Amino acid sequence: MKLKLSILLICLFFVMLIQAQVQPKSLVVKAGNPVAPIQPTMWGLFFEDINFAADGGIYAELVKNRSFEFYKPLMGWKKTGEEYVGQFQIINSQNENNPRFLRLESLQGKELGLINEGFRGMGITSGESFNFSVFARQGEGASTLKVELLDSVGVVIGKTEVNGFSTNWKKYEAKLVSTKTDSKAKLRVTLSGKGVLEIDMVSLFPENTWKNRKNGLRADLVQKLADMKPGFIRFPGGCIVEGHELETRYQWKKTVGNVEDRQLNINRWNTEFPHKNAPDYFQSYGLGFYEYFLLAEDIGAEPLPILNCGMACQFNSCELVPLDALDPYIQDVLDLIEFANGAATTKWGKLRADMGHPAPFNLKLVGVGNEQWGTQYVDRLKIFMKVLNEKHPEIIFVGGSGPSPDGKDFDYLWKEMRELKVKMVDEHYYRSPEWFLQNASRYDSYDRKGPKVFAGEYAAHDKDGKDSESRNTWKSALAEAALMTGLERNAEVVHMASYAPLFGNVDAWQWRPDLIWFDNLKVVATPNYYVQKLFSTNAGTDVVSALVDGKPLAGQDSLYASSTIDSNTSELVVKLVNVAKKPASLNLLIEGRKIGAGEISLQVLTNANLAAYNSIGKPEVVTPVERKLKLSGEKIVFSLDANSFTVARIALKK
Ligand code: AHR
Repeated sequence: MKLKLSILLICLFFVMLIQAQVQPKSLVVKAGNPVAPIQPTMWGLFFEDINFAADGGIYAELVKNRSFEFYKPLMGWKKTGEEYVGQFQIINSQNENNPRFLRLESLQGKELGLINEGFRGMGITSGESFNFSVFARQGEGASTLKVELLDSVGVVIGKTEVNGFSTNWKKYEAKLVSTKTDSKAKLRVTLSGKGVLEIDMVSLFPENTWKNRKNGLRADLVQKLADMKPGFIRFPGGCIVEGHELETRYQWKKTVGNVEDRQLNINRWNTEFPHKNAPDYFQSYGLGFYEYFLLAEDIGAEPLPILNCGMACQFNSCELVPLDALDPYIQDVLDLIEFANGAATTKWGKLRADMGHPAPFNLKLVGVGNEQWGTQYVDRLKIFMKVLNEKHPEIIFVGGSGPSPDGKDFDYLWKEMRELKVKMVDEHYYRSPEWFLQNASRYDSYDRKGPKVFAGEYAAHDKDGKDSESRNTWKSALAEAALMTGLERNAEVVHMASYAPLFGNVDAWQWRPDLIWFDNLKVVATPNYYVQKLFSTNAGTDVVSALVDGKPLAGQDSLYASSTIDSNTSELVVKLVNVAKKPASLNLLIEGRKIGAGEISLQVLTNANLAAYNSIGKPEVVTPVERKLKLSGEKIVFSLDANSFTVARIALKK
């Protein structure tokens, strides 16, 4: 009898064990109990002019070295015609910001011209209109400037002329239309007729730009940003803020006012990586601080400028401004706040108004220093903070925690930031996908009362690959999605996050992976972009707890989850990540709110191949698909694909 009972109990035990294994786990969501608001700034953008993101990227200028100010004045230009000594002269006028111009001298009346190669070619679409402009001054004789678009083999595919030049410097404009599509087109300008003509700021823009602003930004690239509905945009970087040395740091005052008066600066990524040298990488500042503020406004993002703190990049020269000489640097911050927010009667507010924006930009966030570390940074930040907090208590100033997300320097900086009562601390992590998975709980134990976190630069770095875009693997994006559930769950302490870098030109990059790739005509969103977009367009308004066995789901059975409610739409938003090679099931138990009838809409990003990526040639290998989940009663069971990220929006009864 006893034996029979034992056998029965053993059988029962195994049945229960098997059932426990088959039964999906239950994710309990307390939908009636918001834990913390999701900041409207939560998911944002990091913009830096790296990988030809500005000149040769989002700034739609097609002419490279338009004002002959590169270190080699004719870099990007090729002379045509029969040359004799003195025909092409680079004159240095000593004009402070834009000293050089080109004198074309055709005393025998033979045509002579110049071809500009653009930024790895020019992207030209058939039937498209272009705005050509040039600053010019007529010397002796009369002349005409022929303006021609050439396709990649040199055939003319669009033309116009400019003439009637004055003997004083003036801007001349003309339109031309292309008859062919070519991503590697060029521009030829030819002096025709006997005489001398001096030219500067030779420029060509597509007419079709973002919001059709003349000489503005590339519409297709900005659209990708707008589609993300970002909460903020950080600019202008990144290390570019710091410069290799102080002389070449980013100085916002040199990037505002008339475009022709903005002084060219070398781009620090020009020489940064010996294996990715880009000798033709400079900053024209056609995209300057005014344009950044405008861009932020256009896409509904809070502007977050980062300013230099009196230190050049510590990976390079680490040149320092003495502690008693920081005033001009602090003044730059104060003046920037005036430029953005000051009345049109103030010095800098007037410049903003004169540039076309009388209303303030409503700047609320400013970063001081990028990736600085050590006592050098803390000593300087203290001096900045004393003045800035006193003069602008309404602004949130962001401090940094260095280039690593852990270690001695990181811990030291966090301690100092707490003592300084900095309101927000910028963290950076470029780490392996495995690190991302392991760090999904990173913020669960962060102090809720201390400074808030700005995950200001992060990307999962996967292994190498042949194509430019090939490091933006699905594996890296999936790992980022897993970590981001941890950011969202901890929205009480994490107030902002941005993937970095944002853009990569497939023909001219220095750093990868990047969120968005482009060439002269096309743009491709990476799997990482779709992860970011799914988070930012499904942010919700308040985080609610999502627990399995009383704990956040952060890696158990290779699953990750976070959950928010959207009080605007009365929906529950659940984000689920399965990094296992096999499908998984998960019960959803909603507590505290009743769900509406009907079906649940799901956005699913998945691919069986973790090495899959999107490229200019194959842009849709990993893209979100919409699915519906029919509801039967109150019970919701998710069937999650292997290697998948799912966002579910569930209507709640009011
Ligand atoms: O995003 C690329 C670079 O990474 C940034 O310029 C810098 O802040 C970080 O080291």
